[in-house]
Amino acid sequence: MKRKTENQMLVIFGASGDLTARKLVPALYSLYAEDQLPEHFVVLGTSRSDMTDADFRNQVVLESDYLKEKLKNSDEAKTKKFAEMFFYQDLGESYGVDYASLRERVGQLNDEKRTQGNIMYYLSTPPRLYETIAKNLAEAGLSTQNNGWKRLIVEKPFGYSLETAKALNQGLQEHFKESQIYRIDHYLGKETVQNLLVTRFANSIFEPLWNRNYIKHVEITNAESVGVEKRGGYYDKSGALRDMFQNHLLQIVSLIVMEPPIGDEPEEIRDEKVKALKSLRIMRDEKTLHDNTIRAQYIASDIQGKIVKGYREEEDVDAESTTETFAAIKFFVDNWSWKDVPFYVRTAKRMPTKVTEVVIHFKSPHHQIFKESGIQNKDNKLIIRIQPDEGILIKFGVKVPGQGFKVERANLDFYYSSLMEAHVMEAYERLLLDAMQGDATLYARADEVEAAWEFVDPILDYWQNGKDVRMYGYPSGTWGPRNSDELIEGEGYWRNPGENLTDDENYCVLC
Ligand code: BG6
Repeated sequence: MKRKTENQMLVIFGASGDLTARKLVPALYSLYAEDQLPEHFVVLGTSRSDMTDADFRNQVVLESDYLKEKLKNSDEAKTKKFAEMFFYQDLGESYGVDYASLRERVGQLNDEKRTQGNIMYYLSTPPRLYETIAKNLAEAGLSTQNNGWKRLIVEKPFGYSLETAKALNQGLQEHFKESQIYRIDHYLGKETVQNLLVTRFANSIFEPLWNRNYIKHVEITNAESVGVEKRGGYYDKSGALRDMFQNHLLQIVSLIVMEPPIGDEPEEIRDEKVKALKSLRIMRDEKTLHDNTIRAQYIASDIQGKIVKGYREEEDVDAESTTETFAAIKFFVDNWSWKDVPFYVRTAKRMPTKVTEVVIHFKSPHHQIFKESGIQNKDNKLIIRIQPDEGILIKFGVKVPGQGFKVERANLDFYYSSLMEAHVMEAYERLLLDAMQGDATLYARADEVEAAWEFVDPILDYWQNGKDVRMYGYPSGTWGPRNSDELIEGEGYWRNPGENLTDDENYCVLC
């Protein structure tokens, strides 16, 4: 069902930054090309840079490297019409002074372009400015909804700890209602992440098994082959746990753990996700933290003849940095369905490949009939590949033709790419469209973010102040420190796509 996208204005704060050109404008262009933008729509970019409308259009549309590919299929008139949706307003040095001119410009554009007073603010500035901008907008009368709705999209990182996240929530909620605030987590915009809900709740074959009675353990891997690239300054203050685990990976965990919601309304789904996050068993004592958390940094190595720098040698990274680029955490979920089922989650930069997947490991049949089968330790698995080669793989036992009952594993797989006719929206495209239509299902609510920090805070605190904390090293291009294998040893080993797979997995793309 196509929902209605009302006429509106998108005001981007931090519009001269990388995110606007790299993600937002290409997403807007796709919406434009698919005729998903409303009839009356404008983008007003603001930042500290001194630019004209024409400069802004050149920078983010006409001369943008990120749009080149998409514009290849567009004729000149179509591109020109798209570029003409973009306007620019300089906001001065501190984002704090010139809201009167902003109000005037917004008013003028609203009248001229008939955007009906509906405004979406997108905060893509350094996070320390979020509250100031919200406050200034409110003081300039730009957050009131008596003449059209006003919404605020907030980019990550959302807080640096539980305390700072709470303060930020409070600061924003003083000026905007929670229902106006959209905290973006681009993993929720990924089709395969959303499909976790559909796999679970639109099928009757999985949900009855989705609990401690049938599931032995859950494994989630998020690997990137790149290092910190040009983001050393940001990353060194953040680290893998804040950058990926607190938000993207715990969002995935919440979708795996949550109970069935009553329906698909945003609050119905988000209520269940919060309950799931609140049921994560918080690790408080040093021994538990020591035994269940591992951090590491990539070190220099030779990857196929190319020398790759170690993390501490990267640009803008402290030469004695103790920021982790690898994190592996084992934890439990204290609720009725998941009691005592271990979850193993790891994330890292500079691994051998880029892959994100969830592996649900099922328990063995409680009575083994086929003793000669030779498939011990090869239990049923459901592998949900979030990226790349998005798809789902089920591993199950089949009889090998011939005498006796020799059982082998077979694969039943589905690839998103086989749905040729379906256009798979990019995460930002999907999320922007949802917010434009007022659908917050795929955005994180304040209590979700805080529940995730509540779980992560003690780990960060232990890593920073604990007594027996180790920082391991792992050569770039490997699957992390050996100690992380010990973490999962009781269950077997981590599934390292492309590497430690069994014979039956070798022919399948998802393996
Ligand atoms: C971002 C992190 O949120 O997600 C980056 O800040 C990371 O460090 C990126 O590289 C990964 O996103 P994706 O979609 O490429 O898996």
